[in-house]
Amino acid sequence: MTLYGVGLGPGQADLLTVRGKRVLESVSVVYSPGRLSRSVAAEYVDEDTLSDLEFPMTRDPEVLERAWREAAATVAPTAREADAAFVTLGDPNVYSTFGHLRRTLERDHPDVDLEVVPGVSSVTAFATALGVDIEAGSDLALAEAADGAAPTLADRMILFKVTDAPETHRKLTAAGYTVTFGRRLFMEQGETLVTDDPAALLERDYYTLAYARRD
Ligand SMILES: C[S@@+](CC[C@H](N)C(=O)[O-])C[C@H]1O[C@@H](n2cnc3c(N)ncnc32)[C@H](O)[C@@H]1O
Repeated sequence: MTLYGVGLGPGQADLLTVRGKRVLESVSVVYSPGRLSRSVAAEYVDEDTLSDLEFPMTRDPEVLERAWREAAATVAPTAREADAAFVTLGDPNVYSTFGHLRRTLERDHPDVDLEVVPGVSSVTAFATALGVDIEAGSDLALAEAADGAAPTLADRMILFKVTDAPETHRKLTAAGYTVTFGRRLFMEQGETLVTDDPAALLERDYYTLAYARRD
C-alpha cells in the first residue's frame, strides 16, 4: 500500500491535477495539515475520508520534531493497510510540510511506500498572476523571507513567507531590486492582491509572496 503526497495547487479546487483528483478519489484516508488544504480536498472526498494532522506554527526544532514523529506514527499504520494521501497546498516538494513528513517516515517507518503527485506551485501561479515571464537564459532563485528578511541571491527571486512586507521591501529596494507582492493568489479564501506598494500589505498574511528583480 502507498502513501501519496498530493499537491493541491495554490488553493482553487479546479487547479488540482487530474492525477491528484484520481488519487484522492481512490484512497481510504486523506490526511490534511491545515484548514485551507482541507477545504480544497473536501471538494473531492467525503468528510469522513478526511483526517486532520496538527502541525504547530513554531520554529522550535524539538516541538517540530515531535509533531513530525507523531504525524508519521499516525500515518504509517494506515498506509501499511490501505492507500492513503497527505495533501499540501502547491507542490509537495516546494517548502512543504510533506518534506518533513517524508523524511521522518523514511527514517522511522522505512517500509511505507511513498509516491508524490506534483501540484501547481505558488511559484508558477505567482508568475501567471503577475504576468512575469521567466525568460530562457535567466536565473531565478527561490528563497524564504519571513519576518522582514531580504535575501539577495540572484537578479530574479521569488520569496516565500513574506510576513513583514514593508521591511522586506525597504531592504530589497536599498539593494537595487524592484519588488512586487502577491497575496492569496488563485485561492478561494481571502482577497487576492497583487501590488508593488508595501503599505497595502501592513496586515500580516502568511500566504504572501514577493517577486524581486534587479536589472
Ligand atoms: C510552506 S510554503 C508552501 C509552498 C507550496 N508547497 C507551494 O508549492 O506553493 C507556504 C508559502 O507559500 C506561499 N504560498 C503558497 N500558496 C500561495 C498562494 N496561493 N498565494 C500566495 N502565496 C502562496 C506563501 O509565501 C506561503 O508563506
